[in-house]
Amino acid sequence: MQASPILVTGATGKTGRRLLDQLARRGLDARAASRHGGGDVVFDWHDPATFAAALDGVRAVYLVAPEFVEDPSATVAAFLEKARESGAERVVALSSMGAGFPLEPRDSGRRKVEQAVMQSGLHWTLLRPTGFAQNFSEGFLLPAILQGGAIVSATGDGAVAFVDAGDIAAVAASALVDPGHASATHVITGPRALTFADAAEAISKASGRAVAHHAVPRGAMAQLLQQAGMPEDYIDMVMRDQDAIRDGQAAEVTGTVERVTGRAARGFEQFASAAADAWTTPPVTAS
Ligand SMILES: NC(=O)c1ccc[n+]([C@@H]2O[C@H](COP(=O)([O-])OP(=O)(O)OC[C@H]3O[C@@H](n4cnc5c(N)ncnc54)[C@H](OP(=O)(O)O)[C@@H]3O)[C@@H](O)[C@H]2O)c1
Repeated sequence: MQASPILVTGATGKTGRRLLDQLARRGLDARAASRHGGGDVVFDWHDPATFAAALDGVRAVYLVAPEFVEDPSATVAAFLEKARESGAERVVALSSMGAGFPLEPRDSGRRKVEQAVMQSGLHWTLLRPTGFAQNFSEGFLLPAILQGGAIVSATGDGAVAFVDAGDIAAVAASALVDPGHASATHVITGPRALTFADAAEAISKASGRAVAHHAVPRGAMAQLLQQAGMPEDYIDMVMRDQDAIRDGQAAEVTGTVERVTGRAARGFEQFASAAADAWTTPPVTAS
């Protein structure tokens, strides 16, 4: 193990967990940081007192900004200033393909986070993945699949080249360690664009559970997010992404995974067959 670890924020999340595995496989020392999950260090974006211990002696940082905060850029900038002062040299930040959509405001929270990363004084790399395949198996789409065999969205027939979180982690690992990623923005996708109905069909086939896409109007979708307790400004961002998908602006397929890692991006069907157990638990019933 090397003396200067790589700090992995969002360590309990979809990409963070997989990145930790991949760094371990490369024999690299990593420090797992998040609020829960018993990682190496407790780290909370909302508690700057946790920054110093997380950053102590690190050479590079994988940055996953806090959940459900539309504009965390001031916190991210303060954290990156501390990272530079502590001697870190690189930052690889998880952004989103949505930050580059045509109707994305220049001053959106995620664009401001990207600016903070680019102005950090560290060697930076931005990752702009499209929707994660794991949203269906371990993310916000899973409960409705288990409860009612439903995938609800306002994306209509719009398509997304859903990307496997393991592929994002593989690109992140390379950007944290290998040369050639400084000042790069990597748009990361799966190999083929699918509609949400296509995704439902692939999940049904892999799991044996009947799953269907329920396309709802925009207003109904926003209302569901409100009922789930999501902040209004964050809902606006989610709805911009749904609009972009519905309007065909999110179907881009890039060769980033293969170019960076040397192997093809994982297809959705392959993901679904590997993740099938997530959908085979019994339906949740009210007690
Ligand atoms: N999911 C997608 O389809 C998608 C697509 C494009 C971009 N992205 C971007 O990827 C990022 C991750 O999204 P995700 O939904 O996939 O989540 P995730 O990475 O699966 O989970 C969020 C992670 O952040 C940590 N976290 C949340 N709030 C925190 C806080 N206040 N302080 C410290 N750690 C905190 C959580 O750990 P603890 O709860 O243990 O602290 C968890 O490890 C987001 O910035 C999102 O915009 C997601």
